[in-house]
Amino acid sequence: MSKVKFYSRPKVPLEMHKVRIVQKLDLVPIDRRLRALREAGNNTFLLRNRDIFLDMLTDSGVNAMSDRQLAAMMVSDDSYAGSESYSRLEEQIREIFKKEFFLPVHQGRAAENIISRVFVTPGSVVPMNYHFTTSKAHIQVNGGIVEEIIIDEGLKVTSEHPFKGNMDTDKLQEVIEKYGPERIAFVRIETGTNLIGGQPHSLDNIRQVRKICDKHGIMLVFDASLLADNLYFIKEREEGCKNMSIRQITRELSDLFDIIYFSGRKLGCARGGGICTNNREDYIKMRELVTLYEGFLTYGGMSIREIEAMAIGLEETMDENMISQGPQFIEYMVDELEKNGVPVITPAGGLGCHLDARRFLPHVPQTEYPAGALASALYLVSGVRGMERGTISEQRCENGDETLANMELLRLALPRRVFTLSQINYAIDRIIWLYENREQVGGLQFVEEPKILRFFFGKLKTTSSWQGALMDRFKADFRGSL
Ligand code: F0G
Repeated sequence: MSKVKFYSRPKVPLEMHKVRIVQKLDLVPIDRRLRALREAGNNTFLLRNRDIFLDMLTDSGVNAMSDRQLAAMMVSDDSYAGSESYSRLEEQIREIFKKEFFLPVHQGRAAENIISRVFVTPGSVVPMNYHFTTSKAHIQVNGGIVEEIIIDEGLKVTSEHPFKGNMDTDKLQEVIEKYGPERIAFVRIETGTNLIGGQPHSLDNIRQVRKICDKHGIMLVFDASLLADNLYFIKEREEGCKNMSIRQITRELSDLFDIIYFSGRKLGCARGGGICTNNREDYIKMRELVTLYEGFLTYGGMSIREIEAMAIGLEETMDENMISQGPQFIEYMVDELEKNGVPVITPAGGLGCHLDARRFLPHVPQTEYPAGALASALYLVSGVRGMERGTISEQRCENGDETLANMELLRLALPRRVFTLSQINYAIDRIIWLYENREQVGGLQFVEEPKILRFFFGKLKTTSSWQGALMDRFKADFRGSL
């Protein structure tokens, strides 16, 4: 593979918007951060916002809205049935994805619930480039088997591959042969592959996957939650797409899928979700479940204001200037950290900057959760909240053994248009300091461990008194407590 040139732009990313509403932030002293961390059982999900300086937990539902989105929310048409706001969103979906039928849902996992209930049966198989926690859980709850067939390069933490999110088409063939096409419920492609560092797939890869699905009469489903970032990378990195508009790339992609679903908490910078298709029969089957689990067809569990905001947000996603913001700021952060020797996932992807906790904390064994330990240490020394994406995010095997994650990542999400460059520089500064003092960081162990999705509510303690020692070092170096 020839070395791809990712860096054709100026080194300093530019905010292509101006700030007109602000929310005050506090940077509380480190002693209070230590207390907060202990109360939260070293689980960043359980921290309270008042104790957090920069919230890089997720981009979900916390992207900055545009003035046009806020304005649209004021003119929403609130009615149980037949809302004009719904019709406006339906129109927008038709325009962008060229799909005739649209079903609103309250968020992405609700779409996964409905799709899995309709198409997954006990023993059926869903091959996918990579899983997301909720998508896998819904398939498994319905008795399905998940087969992850990402290209080998996708699981390498450092790489120069421009499309680490690609599906391995040879492995797809093998999986279909192994189980037989009739056992495949559908093939799932996740765009901007979340759990391996927001890595994109190419348009060409999807064309290849489609060909194989067509050969065997298999349905192809698109999780488009992280589409904005992936569109940007296709245009930037894929030879054949440089001269295509974002709208054209979206249409080409969309035409390759039978069903598209998304979390509107990510795509479209609002809160909600949706499913679209051109297949009337599938639409009717899923529609029944929307009314059962979500709400009437013309709101699907969403606030009507969010529906208006989503319609505008989706339209704005077709603007290259808008969708470039996330990836360019992430690239800057990844670059600066890499220059200073900090182990990060490369190439820079979407969603956020991902620290490689295995290389950051090589002395912490995987059974002591290096990514979780790094998340708690970084919060302690900076007030920056990230999310563990490693072994804590996995579920134990039936016999109680740990499922060791393929990667131990600390995800520092950059919600779209939220942070300024100086805030990013602050985070970079503290991460570099932590890296220089990494030998101070030790492991974690569970004290409360829920059976399902344990990362949300689990509580952990340190395996030694390393946090106190880290705090002392911090105070000595910074000559203060902030
Ligand atoms: N699919 C992908 C690829 C996601 O990243 C998410 C959510 C979902 C589905 C589920 O959507 O949250 O609206 O129900 N990801 C969030 C995150 C939670 O923080 O990465 P949802």
